[in-house]
Amino acid sequence: ELPQASEVKLLCCNQCLTGDPCIRERIISAPKPFLSIKNKITEDIFNWWKRLQGEKRNFTYYNEAVDTVFKVIPPFPDFAEPSPDRCKICAVVGNSANLKGSRYGPLIDFHNIVIRINRGRTKGYEADVGTKTTYHIIDFLWLMKKFKSRVGLHTAAHLYIYPEFMKYVHEAWLGNKGYYPSTGFLSFALSLFLCDEVSVFGFGADSDGNWSHYFERLGNKKLKTGAHPGGYEYDVMVQLDKKKKIRFFKGW
Ligand code: C5P
Repeated sequence: ELPQASEVKLLCCNQCLTGDPCIRERIISAPKPFLSIKNKITEDIFNWWKRLQGEKRNFTYYNEAVDTVFKVIPPFPDFAEPSPDRCKICAVVGNSANLKGSRYGPLIDFHNIVIRINRGRTKGYEADVGTKTTYHIIDFLWLMKKFKSRVGLHTAAHLYIYPEFMKYVHEAWLGNKGYYPSTGFLSFALSLFLCDEVSVFGFGADSDGNWSHYFERLGNKKLKTGAHPGGYEYDVMVQLDKKKKIRFFKGW
């Protein structure tokens, strides 16, 4: 059954992106976004996901990692779906160096929900990135690498993206461009499930095309955007901003 138009207000309903299926249809067809003990994946999806970073470990290892991690991390509570009556406004904050000197801090904190990503931090950068963090999205591939050493397992407020959701975003939002979506773009896609209005901060490569971070000096000058279709992800969000579906803040 199709949801009422009002349930997907942010998406301004019934408007389609040029050459793409309707956003609404994309949302309906999406798998559950969060990884959890209950949200097990099939071996097929695992194999798709495994090839992304040349992951050598097998399905059994993956399942063990999930079980172990979720012994420590509480399962994500059911979240309220977008509703115009509540009008939750969210800020998705990427880690781009374009935040440096932006003075976006108060604007970011003004949002009801602030989503940060991977190593994104606030201490020492409050004026530019704000102080509030509601959700912190982590790349489970990264976590799995650290799994044996138990690094990162104390991070109870963190969320992990379900691999099948990653595959869905790669197909439905990025037309399978690049190797797989960045955690930032996944977080953006996720925000459309949680929020009525979305503002995006901290996305965009530097003038050399590298994904430099606001919190560190770039060591590897040939970083680019790695396996991710960074430029394409950026364009998708800029286009949505032009259509007034989201607000995209480009930084300085
Ligand atoms: O690099 P990292 O994964 O920590 O950054 C979080 C997200 O922010 C990335 O996944 C990417 O989507 C976005 N980002 C960006 N431009 C940068 C740095 C990060 O768009 N210069």
